[in-house]
Amino acid sequence: MSSSDLHLWHPFTQEGVDPPALSIRSGQGVFLETQDGRRILDAISSWWVNLHGHSHPAIAEAVAQQAGRLEHVLFAGFSHEPAEELAARLGKIVPPPLRHVFFSDDGSTAVEVAMKLAVQYWSNCGRPGKRRIVALEHAYHGDTVGAMSVSDDSPFNAAFQSLRIPVLRTHSASCAHCPVGLTRDTCHIECLNKLERLLAEQGDEIAAVIVEPLLQGAGGMIVHPDEFLAGVRRLTSAHDVFLIADEVLTGFGRTGRMFACERAGIVPDLMCVAKGLTGGFLSLAATFASDRIHSAFVSGDRTHAFFHGHSYTANPIACAAANASLNIFESEPVFERIAAIEQVHARRLPAFRKHPSVLDVRHIGTVAAIELKVPESDAGYLSSLRPRLYQYFLSRGVLLRPLGNVVYILPPYVITAEELNFVYDVIQDSLAIVFPAA
Ligand SMILES: Cc1ncc(COP(=O)(O)O)c(C=O)c1O
Repeated sequence: MSSSDLHLWHPFTQEGVDPPALSIRSGQGVFLETQDGRRILDAISSWWVNLHGHSHPAIAEAVAQQAGRLEHVLFAGFSHEPAEELAARLGKIVPPPLRHVFFSDDGSTAVEVAMKLAVQYWSNCGRPGKRRIVALEHAYHGDTVGAMSVSDDSPFNAAFQSLRIPVLRTHSASCAHCPVGLTRDTCHIECLNKLERLLAEQGDEIAAVIVEPLLQGAGGMIVHPDEFLAGVRRLTSAHDVFLIADEVLTGFGRTGRMFACERAGIVPDLMCVAKGLTGGFLSLAATFASDRIHSAFVSGDRTHAFFHGHSYTANPIACAAANASLNIFESEPVFERIAAIEQVHARRLPAFRKHPSVLDVRHIGTVAAIELKVPESDAGYLSSLRPRLYQYFLSRGVLLRPLGNVVYILPPYVITAEELNFVYDVIQDSLAIVFPAA
């Protein structure tokens, strides 16, 4: 590095204590290769984006072809074939009432769009007082100011309390730490009662409820019972409040079905996707809306238009990558791979449940989590276990980024059973290192 080079400022990194970033020169399948030739098994899909393996040739080819044809054109007043094709293909897989797609850049912007659509819908309909958002405990919806506001309090947003918009907070179905002190075997999803009260008392002021359907990711890979999501849908419908499903993590097969909402048998009013949309190649997001929502934006009144957009909205190269990723769903046995991953999780997790230092294990689709027992003061994202585990995993050639005291696996779908079993073996070995007395 010469003195004129800019310093690279990495996200979610404390340079005062964290090791320098590893420079990666290539990626193939589930493996990344460092500049000095070490192979690292990417067991978290590079921040939950990669579906079909790194540098999948079909997506790489589609990107190259599109880049040579049309790299970009503004999306206000213009359109293009890759976006039109993508809308047509997504239309076949998203729940039928969601007939409208608004593209943006990443998961956070997809959430901002959904919140703004919900709020402006009520304003366009002459009910501007219906503008509040309800969000769940343990939620994470992104790092932009609106998305950060609906995310629950955490070290990520502690410095920004003054910027966060006020949000109504309700319980999550976090069964390992039940918010109402019950156990799943005998409960009747009483954690929904708080939402029911909020909607009954303040429904006239509430525009939407936002949830991560079935799986809360960054909050600790918390798996909800299907009944919880079904209950949220029932209550929001009963009180004429929109349901926003943030499928940024769960979309495109992570929970075993194309979307978590499909798995739970519900249809939201607004749905956000990003991460896996392009198979992990490029940044692209989409917010889907129902006819009812879209129709409130169409009128002779220009002020009722949705004044939101980003320079790279619906970038053609990103849309081409997304189309190529959807092709792979059709041409390769993607859901068989997903089922095979789920089977390994089901086989390997019970042994961890018995370990004296394990508080809980959970899995859904391709995602598995092992929550480690730590003193209350050391729980959460900043747990002292995290850097030790992270370094240990890397030293064994595996990329896993524990969420504090929660170790999770979220692999590309092309991982083999042998590779996944190796990841489990490494986690097993790590317990002996961090809990030598157990
Ligand atoms: C459920 C959920 N929503 C939104 C986001 C934000 O997505 P992005 O990082 O692409 O802005 C994330 C990111 O992890 C997420 O897990």
